[in-house]
Amino acid sequence: MILIGLKNIFARQLPNMPKEYIVRLLMDRKHKSVMVLRNNEVEGGIPLVVGGITYRPYHRQRFGEIAFCAISADEQVKGYGTRLMNHLKEHARDVDGLTHFLTYADNNAVGYFVKQSFTKEIYLEKDVWHGYIKDYDGVLLMECRIDPKLKYTNLASMISQQRQAIDEMIRELSNCQNVYQVAEFQKKEGGSSKNIRVEDIPGLRDAGWTSDQWGHTRYKLFSGSGDSVTKQKQLNALIRGLLKTMQDHTDAWPFIEPVDSVDVPDYYKIIKDPIDLKTIGKSVESEQYYVTLDMFVADARRMFNNCRTYNSPDTVYYRCATKLQAHFFSKVQAALQSGAKPQ
Ligand code: ACO
Repeated sequence: MILIGLKNIFARQLPNMPKEYIVRLLMDRKHKSVMVLRNNEVEGGIPLVVGGITYRPYHRQRFGEIAFCAISADEQVKGYGTRLMNHLKEHARDVDGLTHFLTYADNNAVGYFVKQSFTKEIYLEKDVWHGYIKDYDGVLLMECRIDPKLKYTNLASMISQQRQAIDEMIRELSNCQNVYQVAEFQKKEGGSSKNIRVEDIPGLRDAGWTSDQWGHTRYKLFSGSGDSVTKQKQLNALIRGLLKTMQDHTDAWPFIEPVDSVDVPDYYKIIKDPIDLKTIGKSVESEQYYVTLDMFVADARRMFNNCRTYNSPDTVYYRCATKLQAHFFSKVQAALQSGAKPQ
């Protein structure tokens, strides 16, 4: 009687399948069905069927063919299909001794099977399955390898245990779980308009920050003491000089202005993060954008990389990028050696 309940769901959800065919396979002793039954809900004394999968195990070849799979219309996309498949995989592996499933998936169910780790590639040797399973038209043969160890019915708690273990490890190694009340700190320091010293921001020192790491730069630029305002001024002067050496170089002409989308219509389709010397110049002029040398170097590097991405190596633009980049980095190195050392 329960199988009849499942037959009704298959008949409704798989309208292209002849009902007689569904009944024949479902009632066939070589086929097995795994079902979702609603607890405590009965219809005419029989538990209510929410959905199920009917499959045939081929024990000698150790694969199973899923013939039908469906969940009743009002219960779809609530996770029942996944739960059902997980139970099926575990049962088929532990009770039937299967290692693989094959199924002919309806086009509109391919997405569901992909999420249950079925693939469109068939890795099983054709000799193993060919001639055993029936061919269907307009459907896609898919395969799933059943993991030999995975506790499919316990995936959620396994993942949450793994997450917890990783979380505990992170907490041992870092103090990133500490939350500091920046709003209260701002109030105490006199509101958001006042300039706040980096080193006074709550939590920075606890996170291992020291004043040597001013601006989080890889480069220790200026020796000696000096407050952050002085250091920013020194940095701005250095960056302005580096920008000028690029602007004055004979190979700088392709980079002076942003690329014109009228002249090069597909440029912005290919280059998603464009930059040029004019744009960099505006950021330099603001005197607040580049708070580290790294940021400035990264923008310049992006400009050269963009050029080499869009243009092929035999173009004049590509050669300009390479030559200007070499010139730029030699100037950066020279600046670092004359007072600013990489940390
Ligand atoms: N297409 C694409 N993705 C789908 C589909 C679909 N038809 N159905 C479900 N999914 C996705 C869900 O969005 C969900 O994604 P998420 O994990 O990212 O949230 C994931 O697959 C699992 O969804 P469940 O809720 O576990 O699946 P559901 O309970 O809806 O069962 C099933 C899936 C069996 C395909 C059901 O939707 C159904 O009965 N459909 C109609 C009948 C059908 O097409 N059956 C398969 C025919 S092929 C055959 O029988 C061999």
